Amino acid sequence: MSVRSLFARADEVLSQRFPFVLPVLGYAATAVEPAVDAQTMTIHHDRHHATYVTNLNKALESQPELQAYTLGELLMGMRKWPAAVQTAIRNNGGGHANHALYWGLLAPGSSTSAAPSGQLAEMITRDFGTVDACKAALKAAGVGQFGSGWAWLVKTATSRLVVRGLPNQDSPLLEGELPIVGLDVWEHAYYLTYQNRRADYLDAVLARINWDVASAQLKR
Ligand SMILES: [Fe+2]
Repeated sequence: MSVRSLFARADEVLSQRFPFVLPVLGYAATAVEPAVDAQTMTIHHDRHHATYVTNLNKALESQPELQAYTLGELLMGMRKWPAAVQTAIRNNGGGHANHALYWGLLAPGSSTSAAPSGQLAEMITRDFGTVDACKAALKAAGVGQFGSGWAWLVKTATSRLVVRGLPNQDSPLLEGELPIVGLDVWEHAYYLTYQNRRADYLDAVLARINWDVASAQLKR
């Protein structure tokens, strides 16, 4: 799968409407080894991500007025929805969107850029000084996230790049911020290989980021 189609897939998921569907992984389960082992990749995609999709569909079955909205609109418009479904959309809609981006960010391949370029590189230099400083901030956010959550590189409403740790499946879109890089730090993302060594998992995936897919997020 090309970089363009990996990006398109994350974007397509945000454009999906009910009933939502699980995107294909797009590469072999072994493709990101040893950073992410094949069993973790398979269980993570085929069961965890699939469950978010199933539960998002269940939540919207009884909300026909919400079925017209895209996943992106559901996340960005959270405060407008009935209180009874906000948590389900936050958790399962966030889980669907977050994982769709994560698969692309981990994608291997000869077209993968080992370092940011273009506009993203310029913004990282402006806001962090160096790529290594940006990666260090992402690692610190991931290590410091208590319990389950994600480390995010986001573009804020004022077009600054900022690193944040967010709990559970909270999407940066909930606060109107654009996800650029998202690193899953739920134990299901790393426990089979790394057990309690979350920092080692973060080092491994930060070395495998597909910066072309990250850059493409800026073009939304
Ligand atoms: Fe996950």
